[in-house]
Amino acid sequence: MHISHLSLSNIRNYSRLEFSIPQGTTLLYGANAQGKTNILESIYYLATTRSPFTEHDSQMINWEATQFDDPIVVGRIKTQITNANNSHELEIRLIQEMRPSTLGQQKSFRREVLLDKRKVRLMDLIGHLRIVMFLPSDIQLITGSPAERRRFLNITLCQIDPIYCRTLSNYNKVLEQRNALLRQINEGLSQKELLPVYSDKLVEYGSQIFIKRAQFIQYIDQKAQQIHYESISNEKESIRFIYHPRLKPKRGKDSLYNKEEMHDWIRTHQNDELKVNEFYSEMLSVNQNHDIMRGTTTIGPHRDDWEIILNQRPLAPFGSRGQQRSALLALKLAEIDWMKSQTNELPILLLDEVVAELDEIRRASLLNTVIESNQAILTATELGMFSTSFLEQANQFHVENGRISKPN
Ligand SMILES: Nc1ncnc2c1ncn2[C@@H]1O[C@H](COP(=O)(O)OP(=O)(O)OP(=O)(O)O)[C@@H](O)[C@H]1O
Ligand SMILES: [Mg+2]
Repeated sequence: MHISHLSLSNIRNYSRLEFSIPQGTTLLYGANAQGKTNILESIYYLATTRSPFTEHDSQMINWEATQFDDPIVVGRIKTQITNANNSHELEIRLIQEMRPSTLGQQKSFRREVLLDKRKVRLMDLIGHLRIVMFLPSDIQLITGSPAERRRFLNITLCQIDPIYCRTLSNYNKVLEQRNALLRQINEGLSQKELLPVYSDKLVEYGSQIFIKRAQFIQYIDQKAQQIHYESISNEKESIRFIYHPRLKPKRGKDSLYNKEEMHDWIRTHQNDELKVNEFYSEMLSVNQNHDIMRGTTTIGPHRDDWEIILNQRPLAPFGSRGQQRSALLALKLAEIDWMKSQTNELPILLLDEVVAELDEIRRASLLNTVIESNQAILTATELGMFSTSFLEQANQFHVENGRISKPN
């Protein structure tokens, strides 16, 4: 798979861009604040329908375009992608409008998604363009909150598995309804008898999510161990990826959540949906009164976490910065391998300034994968850190003030 063309209008510091991207390695270089990362963000956005940097999509609209009195401003990201056997055009429009309301004119924001020029649902776009992105802020996956780590699972799995994505969306809807009902029961406005309808649905969707996450993490665990051992740590360190499904509440004397126990349990049963269903269902009902009291559902994949163990110790509190970077590299390289195993195609690699942070061995290991990929787009402020042979193989483009040009 590769992107042959990217068009932007009114996105970040690009008022207009037409960029034909070659296959193989593309290196975007230039001074700070010229628009290198903005290119990667746009491609990431088309692949996942979200920005890796902001929750507020309207921030991506070029701010100069919004300064005029136009009642409607449209930011547009469009790309042509080519797969082994077909080609698609993907487009997302970010639309900011002035709407009359009782308070006068009010700004409103909406998105339109087009696949081959036809309007589709957001979810229908995901999976057409598959990417793996390397960002300096990926370190948050290790040191940040569980929500960050769940987001990683969701974004990765959704790109490959549309059923996972739909199940997740259904799960979140049922979860919201169940939580609303729990609050009503708590306030005496509703009956306990209504709960099983929602609990059953939650178990149906939630079990599938537990299972798919467990299978994914097991793959990553095995592959990353191998990559880390062979090409990153010089056969010195051992790494493990451990899934912590929230199948039991994390409280109480007799139901103390034991991480290792839960990890082993899901690994043993990850091919047995009936068993996971049964257990999850039982735990939900054991926990019912507690949930009513709290007014929220306290077990389920929305509370999952995972962690990295290096040489038998958790990496987050004990690992050095370099060890954390290395583990992330192993994770991302394993993710690429997993996508290839699932789709028979390599994803597109997007790398933002990450090469600068790695030492020679790790840099070589990463650039090797870059060179072997179908398409990789890297950003850098200077070219000094790349070897001559790498630079000879890469297509170089200079980025300056929202313009991209071939160097002379
Ligand atoms: N909505 C927006 N409208 C216009 N410009 C924006 C918008 N959002 C961000 N910018 C600007 O776009 C410019 C380029 O940002 P980008 O992150 O792509 O730079 P970069 O080339 O990656 O730089 P660095 O080397 O510092 O990472 C910045 O000056 C930033 O302030
Ligand atoms: Mg940047």
